[in-house]
Amino acid sequence: MMSVNVPTFLKWAGGKQQLLERYETFLGHASSENAQHYYYERRTEFNHLKLAQRLPKKKMLRKAALFIYLNKACFNGLYRENLLGEFNVPFNGEKEANLFNEDVLRTASRLLQKVELKCSDFRKVDYHKGEVTYFDPPYWTERTTGFTRYTAVDFLKEDQIDLAKLFYRLHLRGNRSLMLSNTDTPLIHHLYGKPQFTLSKIAARRAINSEGTGRGKIYEVLITNFRSAKNEVGGTICPTK
Ligand SMILES: C[S@@+](CC[C@H](N)C(=O)[O-])C[C@H]1O[C@@H](n2cnc3c(N)ncnc32)[C@H](O)[C@@H]1O
Repeated sequence: MMSVNVPTFLKWAGGKQQLLERYETFLGHASSENAQHYYYERRTEFNHLKLAQRLPKKKMLRKAALFIYLNKACFNGLYRENLLGEFNVPFNGEKEANLFNEDVLRTASRLLQKVELKCSDFRKVDYHKGEVTYFDPPYWTERTTGFTRYTAVDFLKEDQIDLAKLFYRLHLRGNRSLMLSNTDTPLIHHLYGKPQFTLSKIAARRAINSEGTGRGKIYEVLITNFRSAKNEVGGTICPTK
């Protein structure tokens, strides 16, 4: 099997590719005031397209291009929505945005031709026994102010519990390639601390966090229903039990 290593073309809170590249394509702006004005105009335009019921192909392309721009020009590459479902992350204050690398975008596009992307609640997915299943849910935090919400819909403690139940059910049904990542917190240890599962602690260097002070080393757990030795995400891995 051939493996292709393509850097991510989006900056992503919690993204698994921890070494974010700097690209040499710049969007010039006369001043940061202009850049700010430009950003908020594009954000409004994006939200109109985002909330539209149906879009012609040209507008869908425009929406995708705006998303890439906003992702690079917004604060910390965060993706968050207000209750109306509008993208509401503020401007990052920089005059120039590193937008994209054409080769990376073309390679990602070529690879994605072979991929079927479905957007659905995790409870409604058809899981197949022979497939590798990786769950990367909104991370659990005990603090109410923590960053767990990406969209207008919250991911609550009940959702974490439902997900853990699903993970266990899939295991019992015979799926032998299950993986899930979440925070290194008591609830997650409680939900997945079963002899059938391996919990591995990963020191993840987060480039993005909703609080400036929260930057730096934080720990995550990788839960598998098989023994995993290799750390794929660049931190140091050590079994927690
Ligand atoms: C930690 S992020 C995953 C990011 C992605 N794996 C990556 O590395 O770029 C969690 C994702 O779960 C999605 N999500 C929230 N609630 C969900 C639900 N009920 N079912 C499925 N996905 C959900 C969020 O929209 C968000 O994209």
